[in-house]
Amino acid sequence: MNIEVRHELGDEGPKDAARQHLINPSEEMAKLGRSDRPLFTHADGIYVWDDAGRKLIDGPGGMWCTQIGYARREIADAIRDQAMTLSYNSPWYFVNEPAAELARRIAELAPGDLNHVFFTTGGSSAVDSALRFMQFYNNVLGRTNKKAIICRIDGYHGSTQLTAACSGRAWNRPNFDLASDQIAFISAPNTFRRPRGMSEAAFLDFLVEEFRSKVAELGPENVGAFLAEPLLASGGVIVPPKGYHKRILEICRQHDILYISDEVVTAFGRCGHWFASEDVFDIVPDIITFAKGVTSGYLPLGGLVISDAVLGRISGENAKGSFFTNGYTYSGHPVSCAAALANIDVISRDRILEHVRETAPYFQERIGSLRDLPLIGDTRGTGLLGCVECVTDPSSEQATKLDAEMALRVDRECYEAGLIVRPISNMCVLSPPLIITREEIDTIVGILGRSIEKVTNELRAEGRI
Ligand SMILES: Cc1ncc(COP(=O)(O)O)c(C=O)c1O
Repeated sequence: MNIEVRHELGDEGPKDAARQHLINPSEEMAKLGRSDRPLFTHADGIYVWDDAGRKLIDGPGGMWCTQIGYARREIADAIRDQAMTLSYNSPWYFVNEPAAELARRIAELAPGDLNHVFFTTGGSSAVDSALRFMQFYNNVLGRTNKKAIICRIDGYHGSTQLTAACSGRAWNRPNFDLASDQIAFISAPNTFRRPRGMSEAAFLDFLVEEFRSKVAELGPENVGAFLAEPLLASGGVIVPPKGYHKRILEICRQHDILYISDEVVTAFGRCGHWFASEDVFDIVPDIITFAKGVTSGYLPLGGLVISDAVLGRISGENAKGSFFTNGYTYSGHPVSCAAALANIDVISRDRILEHVRETAPYFQERIGSLRDLPLIGDTRGTGLLGCVECVTDPSSEQATKLDAEMALRVDRECYEAGLIVRPISNMCVLSPPLIITREEIDTIVGILGRSIEKVTNELRAEGRI
């Protein structure tokens, strides 16, 4: 389209271009061409600026990923240097130094005997590859029926055909073809929404028994994997009751079911450790998937780490002539891997994991203080992940439309006051860059608290509560 025609359409720059040509994730189709997402112009540290000149605290850490913050010279230099040294190689035939070194570093940081890394392009492709690996593994072992995947309601694992089908968030499912008799769901381990009158200990027993029954119903010989985030991030920062993962892992071990821990959100510092599976949730799974924080969002990269024990069963003299042909043009991309190595160096050098472990209790305490506000039903989190749940009608067992409207209005107020908060249904979710200070946490909680109070007063004045 030439410039004159663009001007006739009222083209004023990138926002018009986005409206006219860009399809975004979670696009509301009725508003296609009219949606008005803020345009970000630049960022530094924990702050981003929009095109109206607002300076905003990056409350959700981009999309759970901007661990070390924006505009870090070390990462930019590593990206530039690698781009000028070797910008690409085909991973089908050759290896490069950054990918090899990153695999070594990740194997060192991962728990137990998880020592082999397969690189992908992001989180969805990481989980998809882990699931395809499970299918491949059982085929090579001659257990061609052992393919069912057990997942949780409210879990999120990505946007490929298979990972979307394994994602249990209700609002992601309409109008997609996700039905599969290979995929089964069990309850979210959501203690806030547990049946009324049930103790937390009884709820944990219920969840474990539900998993055991699901395995029995499908037949253990047909179940290939349990796929679980250590805590359900996009489902609303749902932290399972203590001991949940360990008890489920025991059942997996009894039936030779692979435990795939989806650490796309939790790995690389979010919970104060390189990986959360063992250090926070006390399990060593068979496979861990990661993405996001591995490059602090500077470049796309994801991957999975597989245990020696699992690989040993289908490699070497046990390989039966097989080739694991799953792969991507950009598997082990040298520039992404160089960015990840520089990111790991910054996290280590600046003692960011220690900083998270020191700061997280304060963050949780401050988020927890919002529970005293009249329309806040629950506050929760772990590490630098937090969630505030709006509940306008305490008698309702599920979130209502008004709860979701309230959360959206709170998030809009926060934005106007200089804080980005991620709205998920009736929840306001936070996962700030890991370099956040106590003073900045006070600012976040101050803005969020004032916004909740303002919207509460408005709802009262409107006669809706
Ligand atoms: C736990 C989890 N797994 C997988 C994914 C998918 O990752 P990506 O969006 O990088 O494909 C996400 C994305 O938020 C996630 O939260």
